[in-house]
Amino acid sequence: MIMDFPDIVNYAKIHDVPIIEADSWSTIKQIIDKQQPKTILEIGSAIGYSALLFAKYSDAEVYTIEKDEHRAEVAARNISSSEYADRIHFYHDNAFTWKYPGAVVDLLFIDAAKAQNKAFFERFEPFVRPGGIILTDNMNIRGHIELELSEIKSRNLKRIVRRTKEYRQWLEQLPGYDTIILAAGDGLALTVKKEKL
Ligand SMILES: C[S@@+](CC[C@H](N)C(=O)[O-])C[C@H]1O[C@@H](n2cnc3c(N)ncnc32)[C@H](O)[C@@H]1O
Repeated sequence: MIMDFPDIVNYAKIHDVPIIEADSWSTIKQIIDKQQPKTILEIGSAIGYSALLFAKYSDAEVYTIEKDEHRAEVAARNISSSEYADRIHFYHDNAFTWKYPGAVVDLLFIDAAKAQNKAFFERFEPFVRPGGIILTDNMNIRGHIELELSEIKSRNLKRIVRRTKEYRQWLEQLPGYDTIILAAGDGLALTVKKEKL
């Protein structure tokens, strides 16, 4: 299989930067092939890998934001040196204070701090059009989602798992949205904002 952006994938491996898994990406790619989004908003660019994939495999304008200074530097370099630089709008900022400057969103991809998914959802969902899609990655927290909280020793991991369980339950009963959790990669929540009647 030919890998996209092999130098970036290699950098991520060497420097331990979490980037989207191949299996999650192949599911997301099927979704964008079908949806043909014109505007994609991504929360959590890391070093720009998934933003580059979005730009390569769609015609969308891609808005993406990263708060970590060093990763943002690398992302800016990776994006500006790519052939997709004119369609990727990269911001080094904190998603909780940043003012989204783009058009109405067809696809929102939440892939940032895993304990804060609900807050990201609430902040950016208003920009998503009715019928639009919200994807949230890492819904399984590497299998830990199956465990009882009492079985998890690390305080930080326990907090992330607890928040992810709460987020999944909240999403699944959220009025105005339909959500399914796909088994792709580390678990991908696919949420569709219902059309208004
Ligand atoms: C899993 S990585 C993103 C991977 C990227 N989407 C990819 O697949 O190539 C999550 C990133 O979100 C960033 N992040 C966490 N909280 C954030 C916030 N409040 N605003 C912006 N970025 C944030 C982290 O610094 C981290 O680099």
